Amino acid sequence: MVMKFKKSLVVPLSLILAVSLCSLSLPPEEKAKNLKVLPKNISHEELMQTMHLFNKSLGVKCDFCHAHSKDDPKKLDFASDVLEEKETARDMMKLTMRINKKYFKSGKDESGKQIMTVTCYTCHNGQKEPVATPPGGNEKGPQGPPPPGAHDGPPPPPPANH
Ligand code: HEC
Ligand code: HEC
Repeated sequence: MVMKFKKSLVVPLSLILAVSLCSLSLPPEEKAKNLKVLPKNISHEELMQTMHLFNKSLGVKCDFCHAHSKDDPKKLDFASDVLEEKETARDMMKLTMRINKKYFKSGKDESGKQIMTVTCYTCHNGQKEPVATPPGGNEKGPQGPPPPGAHDGPPPPPPANH
């Protein structure tokens, strides 16, 4: 009798536990409360698409920009601004938007959204810090000619041997 009672209790309990454990690892679907660059009325789905794009573009996990919660270190405190990387990412979002709008004149799609010709991935290519020089060569960038004195001529003759 006792066993039977226990068994019927155990199954639903473990089910409830499994469900709540799953939802712990996902960000809460509640409205974002600390958006300064993205539109405040962004849908949860679109916000997550954006965040996953960040992960893939930089080759990082969510905790590169989002600090762990003080109350429960297993969770991330997505609204917190304590990590410098999150603030850098905000600047990068503005920069990326401006590049598209001003320099590529990418325009907007039917729904009025900025078309992103250049994305985080264009520069980052799956890395935290984009590589500035092509492999094997320190080629001159668009910053202009080398400063006077830094000429490419043959090296000065070695000092005479005494
Ligand atoms: C490269 C940095 C970066 C990465 C990686 C990143 N995020 Fe974000 N996330 C941000 C920035 C910046 C904001 C704030 C955007 C704004 O101010 O408009 C944000 C905002 C959020 C918010 C809204 C928080 C609030 O309440 O305001 C959630 C939720 C979130 N991110 C979840 C995630 C998840 C989940 C991942 C991993 C899949 C992730 N983020 C990866 C930079 C990042
Ligand atoms: C025009 C090229 C370019 C684009 C587009 C770009 N970034 Fe960056 N990003 C850089 C460069 C270059 C650095 C390294 C700066 C440095 O070393 O001081 C950097 C650095 C960063 C860092 C700091 C990395 C670290 O190691 O601390 C973050 C975070 C970041 N970018 C996020 C983003 C996100 C998110 C996007 C898209 C919204 C983005 N970037 C788009 C060029 C770009």
